Amino acid sequence: MKKLAELYSGKAKTVYTTDDANKLILHFRNDTSAFDGERVEQLDHKGMVNNKFNAFIMQKLEAAGVPTHFEELLSEEEALFKKLDMLPIECVVRNISAGSLCRRLGIEEGLDLDPPTFEFFLKNDALHDPMINDAHILTFRWATQDEIDRMKSLTYMVNDILKALFAEAGMLLVDYKLEFGRYQGELMLGDEFSPDGCRLWDTETRKKLDKDRFRQGLGGVIEAYEEVAQRLGVDLEPLQSTK
Ligand code: TMP
Ligand code: ASP
Repeated sequence: MKKLAELYSGKAKTVYTTDDANKLILHFRNDTSAFDGERVEQLDHKGMVNNKFNAFIMQKLEAAGVPTHFEELLSEEEALFKKLDMLPIECVVRNISAGSLCRRLGIEEGLDLDPPTFEFFLKNDALHDPMINDAHILTFRWATQDEIDRMKSLTYMVNDILKALFAEAGMLLVDYKLEFGRYQGELMLGDEFSPDGCRLWDTETRKKLDKDRFRQGLGGVIEAYEEVAQRLGVDLEPLQSTK
């Protein structure tokens, strides 16, 4: 697969076109951002860890029946994906209270949420990703009712699959964010799943093992990401042959 031109550079990943119009290469960079891009730092190894972690999770989800854009790992920091027409929406499921839920609703951190909550956010850094609802999505034509239903059912399905996967590895899946896009008439999971976009706590100690370590200046960010990967059995060794 030949890399052609840079299509778009986001806060943590750069997207390249390829000689196949339906495929993109994503480069996972070491850039780590918080607070809607207000703070950006380089963390050694983060691109590699997130690339391999994302590949591992996407393959697990695909095997469990969730359609994803992932195709194959290409190199330490790059992988091949289907080119989706992304919806400007973030889907968040929460199993335990943390982050903006606590700030918005005045709830203490660490409460079990039963049933888990579901929220939509508009993907817009300038507006600080405001929370939106189904009616906003329909009015502004960001997605159809069928797509809203599908995003919810797939996001909850991911919760069942990943809660179990992390539980087996001694971790609590506190919350996570997913993004979806259209591909040949089908809605698929896009973007990435990595410790940048979810919260993971050690089950016993409740130690934070995700990007909150960066947001809250707790240190040991990449060490925590590597620990999560190692507990799940993600292979972080250099790839044998890079394409
Ligand atoms: P929040 O508590 O800040 O609303 O975030 C909930 C979860 O979603 C948390 O795991 C971080 C993730 N998330 C992102 O990765 N990017 C975003 O832009 C937003 C709004 C949330
Ligand atoms: N991913 C978003 C950002 O980089 C939100 C966050 O993680 O704080 O600003």
